[in-house]
Amino acid sequence: MPSQKKLRKKIKPKAGSPEIQNIPLSKKRKFQNRLLKWYDESGRDLPWRRTEDPYKILVSEVMLQQTQVDRVIPKFHEFLQKYPTVRDLAEAQPEDVRKTWYPLGYNIRPYRLHGIACEAMERYGGNIPSQEKDLLSMKGIGRYTAGAIQSFAFQKDAAILDTNVMRVLHRIFIGTGDPKKQKPTLWLLSEKLIPKGKGYDFNQALMDFGAMVCTARKPFCLLCPMRDICHSVSSHE
Ligand code: ADE
Repeated sequence: MPSQKKLRKKIKPKAGSPEIQNIPLSKKRKFQNRLLKWYDESGRDLPWRRTEDPYKILVSEVMLQQTQVDRVIPKFHEFLQKYPTVRDLAEAQPEDVRKTWYPLGYNIRPYRLHGIACEAMERYGGNIPSQEKDLLSMKGIGRYTAGAIQSFAFQKDAAILDTNVMRVLHRIFIGTGDPKKQKPTLWLLSEKLIPKGKGYDFNQALMDFGAMVCTARKPFCLLCPMRDICHSVSSHE
């Protein structure tokens, strides 16, 4: 069963949420088209974008939860060389998994990932499930990771919201208040903005855009393709 916390997080803002109702369709379309075009031209070639294996995508997403892309890349290769399948990981000793994980920080993650592999063996025949409710029922998979796996491994139009995506959507579409206090609205925005059938590219693009253009400190507003539709552009110049 999903924990109370996960269920609470899924509460959506009321249908009439003004931030969302007031977005003109033209702004939505401009954002979608420009983001996809920018990604096509400038998106990163990352190893987890070269696989369709849900297990490998899961490994990447758990590694990326608290660690920068540059540090994850070599560990991603090393980890998958040692544990190429869900079964290999499930059969490993948790302590060995933790050692392989080192020096990536936040050391509960290797145990969680090992636990997910064991659960996938026991409940899903060694497969990573594709349904949101099944993903959320696994310890260590929250709403972000469930959305990432659905869109990156199963090509579903599922929303994602991490710190980077939150910052991008908040700056461009809202512009005021504390983004952390507007999570339900931002989740809804993330969902509504996905162009039909393009959840994979759109979500990967959001990640790269947040990491490369709409950065936390000193965003590159002068080069930003969203300049003329952004609610925050003037406050960053
Ligand atoms: N951070 C979390 N997931 C990511 C992904 N798929 N690509 C780049 N950065 C990420």
